[in-house]
Amino acid sequence: MIKIAILGYGTIGSGVVEVLNTNRESIAKRAGDEIEVKYILDLRDFPGDPMEKKIVHDYDIIAKDPEIQVVVEAMGGVEPAYTFVKQALLAGKSVTTSNKALVAKHGAELIAIAREQSINFLFEASVGGGIPIIRPLNSSLTADEIEEITGILNGTTNYMLSKMTFEGLEFDDVLKDAQSRGYAEADPTADIEGHDACRKIAILTSLVCGQQVDFEEIYTEGITKITAADIRYAKAMGRVIKLLATSRKTEEGYCAMVAPFLLSQQHPLYSVNDVFNAIFVHGNVLGDAMFYGSGAGKLPTASAVAADLVEIAKHLHKNILISWSSGKMDLADYKKAQSRFFVRTSQGKEEVTKVFGTVEFIEPEGVTGETGFITEVMTEKDYEQKAAELKNILQRIRVV
Ligand code: HSE
Repeated sequence: MIKIAILGYGTIGSGVVEVLNTNRESIAKRAGDEIEVKYILDLRDFPGDPMEKKIVHDYDIIAKDPEIQVVVEAMGGVEPAYTFVKQALLAGKSVTTSNKALVAKHGAELIAIAREQSINFLFEASVGGGIPIIRPLNSSLTADEIEEITGILNGTTNYMLSKMTFEGLEFDDVLKDAQSRGYAEADPTADIEGHDACRKIAILTSLVCGQQVDFEEIYTEGITKITAADIRYAKAMGRVIKLLATSRKTEEGYCAMVAPFLLSQQHPLYSVNDVFNAIFVHGNVLGDAMFYGSGAGKLPTASAVAADLVEIAKHLHKNILISWSSGKMDLADYKKAQSRFFVRTSQGKEEVTKVFGTVEFIEPEGVTGETGFITEVMTEKDYEQKAAELKNILQRIRVV
């Protein structure tokens, strides 16, 4: 019997309990032993809940109990999660977490402690919800140099953009709906400003380059400025707007970015809708691969956490090597990245052509008093210079 403690009895923590109960037998068979929840740490009491008697309010009870071999961190946020997880690892207890903020900030250090202790720090659920992506990168795609990793990594914003696309709604109307469905983080800023996707692409980039990528250095734009008018233009172009988190290997290192992009129908992520996430990976010998599935929500995320528990149970006193050192990786300057840009301006076609040269004008039905166009391929820096010259830019979205 492997005894575990769960930190946080919110959406994910209670989901883990549900998964362990629902698939008790098959999980035990695959783990080689039964997994039993001994404690759940939460500030609240849960009168009437079947797990009521397992609730504790003092983390020391868990940290000091030698019977606890694994800790599930499902609290979210950096503190006190970091302090508790570090304490657990130093006490010889393996940890699995769904907490991307924790992993992005302290992943390298926690991985190193787990290695020294011959135990494990796993974090499959921190990126892509229920989609297996961390384990594939760490165990299956190890013969490749990963040249690109581009994902729809935030379920909330993908749900919102899908709803804006299919129903022609404005941003504010769809945000409330996403929150009521439990997709958005408690503070939706993390989702809609791209911070959540930024931490996730920082984790994936750290894994593929084997070094620490600081999320603070990743250029990040959210979806708060996307309007129903932009969606009308996208439709006129036969494209969709998606929030992409992308990381590409260039001669100057990895270039990472989070921003809304206009995707053509040929793009592998074009059809990824609603709360689904997908991650496109290009390896130098593998070529292309895609990982698709439920990117957020209670049970999909809990499924990934429970799968980590099985993996930990199979390697109780043996560390699974994760190549992610604390040595910092400097990212390539995103301003040198090249793209085409879709632009809306209150200037006329003549001014546009004078500044940007050859462009493709987009004229959706019912839009008047402005000019929409797509530039030729240029660097971010060149675009910024030309945009400053043109003035009166209403919108700018990268085209891929
Ligand atoms: N709020 C996150 C999302 C949850 O919408 O993707 C999963 O990390």
